[in-house]
Amino acid sequence: MSRSTRLDIDLSAISANIAVLREITVEQKLMAVVKANAYGHGAVAVSRHIESQVDALAVAFTEEAVTLREAGIAAPILVLEGPHAASDIALAAKLDLWPAIHQSQQFEWCQAHIADLSQIWIKVDTGMHRLGFELEELDSIRNKLSHAGGTDLTLMSHLAAAEHPDNALTTSQARRWSELTQRWDGQTSLNNSAATRSAMGYRSDWARVGYALYGGQIEGMAADDRLQPAMRLTSAVIAIRQVPVGDSVGYGGRWVAQRDSLIATVPVGYGDGYPWSAADGTPVSVAGQLAPLAGRVSMDMITVDVTDCADVEVGSMAVLWGDEPHIDEVARHCGTIGYELMTRFTRRTPVRYLNA
Ligand SMILES: Cc1ncc(COP(=O)(O)O)c(C=O)c1O
Repeated sequence: MSRSTRLDIDLSAISANIAVLREITVEQKLMAVVKANAYGHGAVAVSRHIESQVDALAVAFTEEAVTLREAGIAAPILVLEGPHAASDIALAAKLDLWPAIHQSQQFEWCQAHIADLSQIWIKVDTGMHRLGFELEELDSIRNKLSHAGGTDLTLMSHLAAAEHPDNALTTSQARRWSELTQRWDGQTSLNNSAATRSAMGYRSDWARVGYALYGGQIEGMAADDRLQPAMRLTSAVIAIRQVPVGDSVGYGGRWVAQRDSLIATVPVGYGDGYPWSAADGTPVSVAGQLAPLAGRVSMDMITVDVTDCADVEVGSMAVLWGDEPHIDEVARHCGTIGYELMTRFTRRTPVRYLNA
């Protein structure tokens, strides 16, 4: 088969990033966040590759954890949203999952299986106001859990703007977290990629790292060049044409040639996961040279202005993101974040694993 559009996942890059994160997290245990199909990288393949390199894995909800257990993943798995129903707790007990609980109904569900849950994480709301017990509820929930069974308890919270350590929201969350952890004698977990990278010294026995694991850079923070992108979206040119000055290219005629131009058509579109929102000028590497997107993204194709590129021909390789252009750079041109680009792949895009 001849289709050139493909997602390459370099598993050795994820291992290299884990080594870098181990250096940064020093005494923290490292939990690899593999929710949303490991941020689009393939949860089973990634988890298999890294489970012996990290201390635990984290997913968003029970079904994601079940998929990993069914694939033979034996590492501890934290379920970040905790149970959505009582049946999720029965599964957690059966499959040795660690539920995070953040509201009182989940506590009720836990009670029936508490002896079979090796860990429960208690999530508190320090200010993000998405999930978590109120701070005043913590003592009572901890007492109830201890009374019900004495399973290991870890205190967790989540920062809403960790990439900005000095802003008012972060400092207020950090203050509340510090107050809470002073009277907490068990394990704690606060740091995501941004908090881990900013190394602000919040108490956190467990770092829960997702985006940096895959080589993503955090918007608003200086890039850490040691983190390597693990994902590369590639394709190859299928057509080249001359477009005279004044003519437009693609749907709606959005891009209009300001000079006689050479346009390359690449068979990747929003049906594959390349964002429709990509603006003219979004960088695409064609035959090893960066060139600007020219015209609206179609379902199956994009058009690129390769007038200034040398040696572009049918079959020339195109890199939509990878080492260059970096996914975060592409995301900026699309009015989104690299997290969204990583996670929006469709089944249509073939995946190849490198260095398994
Ligand atoms: C509760 C929680 N912890 C950790 C993470 C990992 O965040 P990041 O990918 O920024 O490292 C997430 C991601 O959304 C999360 O929701």
